[in-house]
Amino acid sequence: MTRQQDGGKCRVVVLISGSGTNLQALIDAAARDDASFSVCSVISNKPGAYGLARAGDAGIAAVAIDHRDYGDRETFDRALMEEIDCHRPDLVVLAGFMRILTPEFVRHYSGRLLNIHPSLLPKYQGLNTHARALEAGDPEHGVTVHFVTEELDGGPTIVQAAIPVKDDDTPDTLARRIQVQEHVIYPLAVSWFAEGRLRMVEDRCQLDGEFLPRSGHRIEN
Ligand code: GAR
Repeated sequence: MTRQQDGGKCRVVVLISGSGTNLQALIDAAARDDASFSVCSVISNKPGAYGLARAGDAGIAAVAIDHRDYGDRETFDRALMEEIDCHRPDLVVLAGFMRILTPEFVRHYSGRLLNIHPSLLPKYQGLNTHARALEAGDPEHGVTVHFVTEELDGGPTIVQAAIPVKDDDTPDTLARRIQVQEHVIYPLAVSWFAEGRLRMVEDRCQLDGEFLPRSGHRIEN
C-alpha cells in the first residue's frame, strides 16, 4: 500500500526490541480520528518482545527478525531493509530498538528515520543514561527525539522534554518519569513529520519552514 492508498496518511514502520510502551503511544495516537499517520508494521529483532503482542492486539502486521540468525550486521540490516520496504513506509521510527545500524541502512532512510533517546542529547549518548545523570548530579534530565544520521545518538534534534531531578531519585524513578515524557514527545514529532511540517535539511531540523535551535523544540516540566 502507498500513502495515497492509505487515505493520505503517513505510513510508519516501527522497529522495537522490548516492551514497546513508545510503540503503544504511537498506536494510540494513530487511532485518533484526526491522526495524520498510521502504523503499518512493527518489526522486532527480539522474538519475545512484548511490543509484538501490542501490535498484534492492534491488528498491525508484526514480525520478528532475529539478529542472531545473521552472520554479520550488514546481512541483518539488509534483511531488515527488505522487510521494511515491503510496507512502503514514509517514515521509519526506532522505538527502543537496541541495535547499532549500518551506514548503508541509515543512508537508505536518510531524512525519514527517527529515534528516541532517554537523555538530553548531546549528553549521555549510549546506555545507562539515568544512572549517569544522577552520578553527575545534574539538576535536570530528559529525553530527545532526533533524526538518525551515521553518528550514534547524534543526528539533528527535533524535540526535547526536560524534568527536574529530585534529591531522592533513583535510575528507576527517573526512568518512569522520563517515559511519561517519551509518550508525549514521540507522537508529537511523528505527527509533525506526517503533516509535512518537519524535515531534516542538511544537519538541521526545520519546523514550519523555520530552523529549530540545535537543541530542538524544548518542553519544560
Ligand atoms: C525507551 O526509554 C527509549 O528511550 C529507550 O528504550 C526505551 C524503550 O522503551 N531507547 C534507547 O535507549 C535508545 N538508545 P519501550 O520499549 O517501552 O518503548
